[in-house]
Amino acid sequence: MRFLNNIKIPISILLLATFANCAEIDKETGLILSSGFEEVKSNCTVCHSAAFIIHQKGDRDTWLSMIRWMQKTQGLWEFDKQTEENILTYLASNYPPGSASRRDNLKPQFLPPNPYSPN
Ligand code: HEC
Repeated sequence: MRFLNNIKIPISILLLATFANCAEIDKETGLILSSGFEEVKSNCTVCHSAAFIIHQKGDRDTWLSMIRWMQKTQGLWEFDKQTEENILTYLASNYPPGSASRRDNLKPQFLPPNPYSPN
C-alpha cells in the first residue's frame, strides 16, 4: 500500500497532462473550443464552412495574410483591432504550422522493398 501512495502523485500528473492535451471540439463547426472561438465562429463561418480553417495551418503572419486576402478579394469585412487580435491569437495557437495533419511516416519494416537500394 505504501507503494501506491508513492505513485499516486505521478499518476495524477500523468492523467492531467493526458487530458490537458485533448482539445474540446465544437460539435456544430468542428472548431477547437478555446479563447476566441466565438469570434471566429461568428466571423469566419459565414461564407464557408469551418473546414477551411481546420484544414489550414499557419503562424500569425500566415493567418493575417489569408484574412487580408479575403478582405481584398472576397468581401470579408474589416475587424476592429481587438477582434482581429483575438481571431489571430485563436487561429495561430489552435491551428499552428507543423502540427501534422497527416499520419506519421510508415516504419521501414512496413514499407515494400526499395528497388533502388544498393543492397
Ligand atoms: C465574406 C466571405 C468570407 C468570410 C466572412 C470569410 N471568408 Fe475565408 N474565404 C472566403 C472565400 C470566398 C474563400 C475562397 C474559397 C475558394 O477558394 O473557393 C475563402 C477561403 C478561406 C481559406 C482557404 C484559403 C486557402 O488558401 O486554402 C481559409 C483558411 C479561410 N478562408 C479562413 C477564413 C477565416 C479564418 C475567416 C475569419 C477571419 C474567414 N475565412 C472569413 C470568403 C470568406
